[in-house]
Amino acid sequence: MSFLPQPHGGTLIQAYDPDFDYAHLDKEIELDAIALSDLELIGIGVFSPLTGFLGREDYESVVESMRLAGGMIWSIPVTLPVSYKKAETLKKGEEVKLVFKNEVYGVLKVSEWYEPDLSKEAILVYRTEELVHPGVKRLFERGTVYVAGDITLIKKTEKGIFNDVWYEPKDTRALFEKNEWKTVVGFQTRNPIHRAHEYIQKAALETVDGLFVNPLVGETKSDDISADVRLKSYRVLLENYYPKERVKLGVYPAAMRYAGPREAVFHAIARKNFGCTHFIVGRDHAGVGNYYGTYDAQRIFSEFPENELGIIPLFFEHSFYCNKCEGMASDKTCPHSKEDRVILSGTKVREMLRNGKVPPSTFSRKEVVEVLIEGLKENALV
Ligand code: ADX
Repeated sequence: MSFLPQPHGGTLIQAYDPDFDYAHLDKEIELDAIALSDLELIGIGVFSPLTGFLGREDYESVVESMRLAGGMIWSIPVTLPVSYKKAETLKKGEEVKLVFKNEVYGVLKVSEWYEPDLSKEAILVYRTEELVHPGVKRLFERGTVYVAGDITLIKKTEKGIFNDVWYEPKDTRALFEKNEWKTVVGFQTRNPIHRAHEYIQKAALETVDGLFVNPLVGETKSDDISADVRLKSYRVLLENYYPKERVKLGVYPAAMRYAGPREAVFHAIARKNFGCTHFIVGRDHAGVGNYYGTYDAQRIFSEFPENELGIIPLFFEHSFYCNKCEGMASDKTCPHSKEDRVILSGTKVREMLRNGKVPPSTFSRKEVVEVLIEGLKENALV
């Protein structure tokens, strides 16, 4: 008997069918990179129990109450936006090809299309309508009509440099079972892994059997460090500082929503589908700017009974290296003052790297810094 958690909703959705015959279909919807990744994530079960893009009833329920219409916890709408002109050509019940750069990746069986209240979605999901919020900006830039329906994934995306760290939930579940990890903690990040991240990961690992480092490599905002550079930094960090038999690196190919608290719940559910029993939520998880309070993404979990969510969130206070403690610590464990603590923002770190200044090893491992400096040079990121 498996000791891993059941997928959300009880069944791992598997909607991949490379032999699906679409030759007779003439209509198509052009996907953007976000919709393409959503299609694949639905198809391979990362977004279980979703079997397609949300219809109106589910969408409104998710926006208003963080639950699907049937009552299951779901905090972020996964929708397929198109133009009104495109929507008008679509009929209920028909199958439509889902196309990205002239290649067919899937088929959608149209159940309906509807005009969402985007302002309401922005306010309830992102807690702001301001267009400087990258998630809100994207929300208003994408189409104004949502097309709904079940999908079939026909073609998976090219994995490129992620090939050896690309696992589907069915693969991670098999792997965790094989390793006999009864408890596995998942870690989400869109950044290089610095000492504070490492500290909370390892603190969590002290109490569970395995750590699944699962960095997001889908669409991010332009000033986040690119996924290819980050991947190199993860590899070098794990190689030098993590025990191989207890830690697995695998990418999470979803788009970043920057929806803070709501996205923390969404991230937790996706990791439960990968087979994790625990999920790390630190300070300002999935936050951006000052839109969310430091611990809002932890507080939101109290709105859901833990056994209903089916994955245990592990909360961590703001962590840092403290010169007086001579080690990593947090607001919870360190009595010293701000001056004793090594705290650098992402913006500050990029500025240091740009000016040829190396962040201290108390902030980031030297091997990671080397990779970032090299990557920033190559990509001219800063
Ligand atoms: S994000 O995906 O949540 O936006 P980020 O890299 O900023 O990525 O954080 C990854 C995880 O580490 C999140 O759970 C976040 O709350 C946590 N985290 C980041 N920095 C710290 C820190 N200094 N102290 C405690 N938790 C942190």
